[in-house]
Amino acid sequence: MLIAMGHQVFYQGIAMSSVAEKKRRAAQAALSYLPDQEILGIGTGTTIDIFIEELAPVAQRIKGAVPSSEQTRKALIAAGIPVIPFEEADSIPVYIDSADEANHYLHLIKGGGGALTQEKVLAGASKKFVCIINDEKLVRRLGQHPVPIEVLPMARSYIARHITHLGGRPIWRENFITDNGNPILDVYDLSIDEPVSMEKRINDISGVVGVGIFALRRADVLLVGKDDQVDVLT
Ligand code: 5RP
Repeated sequence: MLIAMGHQVFYQGIAMSSVAEKKRRAAQAALSYLPDQEILGIGTGTTIDIFIEELAPVAQRIKGAVPSSEQTRKALIAAGIPVIPFEEADSIPVYIDSADEANHYLHLIKGGGGALTQEKVLAGASKKFVCIINDEKLVRRLGQHPVPIEVLPMARSYIARHITHLGGRPIWRENFITDNGNPILDVYDLSIDEPVSMEKRINDISGVVGVGIFALRRADVLLVGKDDQVDVLT
């Protein structure tokens, strides 16, 4: 039975962490992957906002950070961490980001925050991709979270029809435009038995700018924040 006492929740006498605490635990664990005096790539989202808070006091360990979005660029500047544009980064030894869902093969669904395309570029350009999540996001099979697809504006309906043929239910993300000026389709009910082939099939549709399945370039390390520990999956 769940019992709430003040801000703390207990389950069968054991104190349970909030999602934010689990995110912070994973973010703290990620600090051990910082590339000393080199460039760090950084993702986008609430977990990454927590990671930037944890990074700020030790930021002198890195040369600077390449942000995956305008949101992260602003958060880095506010935290006093040097920002390096992607075009000026000769190498990115480590990229740290979160995800909406992850499986035990370290395949991910990303893009809840809408920065999936730049995140995919950074993940692809980095030598090591460290993904930090709370344990609610670790699933046996991807697809409970909708799959975001960034699309060219003129191709939105065309792509939505293709996605319907793949068995998905595309919903236009209203009042949202990516940093690249494009809309997003959130695809529900997609059967993702084989993440690599589904990512390729969606990539192949003309007008798709980026799809939030990260299987061709999956994470190298998954840090899963739990109630009292962080699990490391590789
Ligand atoms: C943004 C992302 C985020 O990593 C993902 O949506 C998880 O976000 P949060 O940390 O807020 O739960 O892919 O495009």
